[in-house]
Amino acid sequence: MSESPDQQPVAALIILAAGAGTRMKSRKSKVLHEVAGRSMLGWAVHAANGVHPQRLSVVVGHLAEQVSEYLHEFAPEATTALQAEQHGTGHAVKCGLDPMGEFSGEVVVTYGDVPLLSAETLQALVSEHRTAANAVTVLTARVPDPTGYGRIVRDASGRIVEIVEDRDADESQKQIDEINSGIYVFDAELLRAGLAQLGSSNAQGEQYLTDVLGYAVSRDLPVGGYVTEDPWETEGVNDRQQLARLDHEANRRQLVRWMKAGVTIVDPLSTRITADVGLGIDVTLQPGTILSGATTVGDGAEIGPDTRLHDTEVGAEASVIRTEANLAVIGERAVVGPFTYLRPGAELGTGAKAGAFVEVKASTIGEGAKVPHLSYIGDTTIGERANVGAGTIVANYDGVAKHRTLIGKASFIGCGTTLIAPVEVAAGTYIAAGSTITEAVPAGDLGVARGRQRNVEGWVAKRRAGTRTAAAAEEAASGSSPVGE
Ligand code: UD1
Ligand code: CA
Repeated sequence: MSESPDQQPVAALIILAAGAGTRMKSRKSKVLHEVAGRSMLGWAVHAANGVHPQRLSVVVGHLAEQVSEYLHEFAPEATTALQAEQHGTGHAVKCGLDPMGEFSGEVVVTYGDVPLLSAETLQALVSEHRTAANAVTVLTARVPDPTGYGRIVRDASGRIVEIVEDRDADESQKQIDEINSGIYVFDAELLRAGLAQLGSSNAQGEQYLTDVLGYAVSRDLPVGGYVTEDPWETEGVNDRQQLARLDHEANRRQLVRWMKAGVTIVDPLSTRITADVGLGIDVTLQPGTILSGATTVGDGAEIGPDTRLHDTEVGAEASVIRTEANLAVIGERAVVGPFTYLRPGAELGTGAKAGAFVEVKASTIGEGAKVPHLSYIGDTTIGERANVGAGTIVANYDGVAKHRTLIGKASFIGCGTTLIAPVEVAAGTYIAAGSTITEAVPAGDLGVARGRQRNVEGWVAKRRAGTRTAAAAEEAASGSSPVGE
């Protein structure tokens, strides 16, 4: 099979990410702020990979170390180039290009703070560049308010002749509503020659990458534009309001994607699904559901309302109501909630239950086993079809170390039991309600560990004379029913 032109790699891709991001007012690099659960730089790398660059460089400057560390961990395919002082977009591209040495072909330039740019749009831009055999192709958009952006200046025949920055534009140029996204494909030789020519005699005293396009025009080389129908894809983030706006839109797009794939989302406005989540068909998400990280949900499961799952695996047909879970595994047809807290290492088998006000940490609840009400289960293995009564607490921590507890298969733990770890309750045992279990209970036994009840006869009349309780006692003694009816 021959590759389509879109799939042929580009020679290089440079992501600009050296800017200061002053208006974010953050200790964190602007490009590391997240949109739909992925850093803006992560989105830029994701889009970049869509055109298969043979060389991928991220130009870093402000908080360079932070950004480099991030790339090292999450995008090791990228190299970084330092732009120690920011002398403009042209200077930045030079910093990215120079270390790449000699090569020919296409160089794509994108930004680290334009999170909605998709791989598809970048592919279309490269396609247009190839079809038109251009020296430069720029991604543009028509927007209602072009203020602040560079404007695409075209001649009478519609050919692009120049890009004018907002601050350098005259009154008539300011009326142009076609903007420069800052994303381009360049022929490598043209780019090198154009960058070598760059001056900085403009309103900002910077080396403008846009002038390379002017340079190509002056040399009569073919320059083109690709107008995207979706201006969101060209929007950059400079402050936290724009961050929230684009995050909202990115989330909306995730929801649309999942609804198209067969997921019911009852209230899209209160539902969040970040980029790396995976969902089956006929999943229902009730209002207030937040799914993030590497969370996956199997076919037909119902999540929410008011549930947050992070890095959690949910099996098919499970039901998870009003739950907070992190690094947990919920088996097929398992039932969780309401008001349940599943912490890292909580694993529920097929058809298992963790009910109301139950907290589970580093524990396995076996197939069909139930912890229905008001329990803490920590560092415990519960066998299949065991039943753990209301208010059972595993005392797993002695103040120094954590210890493990084992509850065998099909055992029945009475309400209000405290299991002092380390302790083993074998399969097929009963524990009497209210027990404090400190020693192993062998299979088939009943464990009882509580004080025997004794009643002190006539104590109320003697020690609480004159109270309403004493009066009720007297009444009961004189023949009315024991509950005083
Ligand atoms: C730039 C374009 C403008 C376009 C706009 C789109 C130029 C001269 N202008 O303007 O036509 O409409 O983007 O958003 O190119 N950066 C560096 N090093 C630098 C300067 C910038 O890495 O020295 C990076 C920034 O981090 C940012 C991107 O380049 O990601 C754009 O820089 P910015 O200063 O925002 O450019 P604009 O003035 O908005
Ligand atoms: Ca900008």
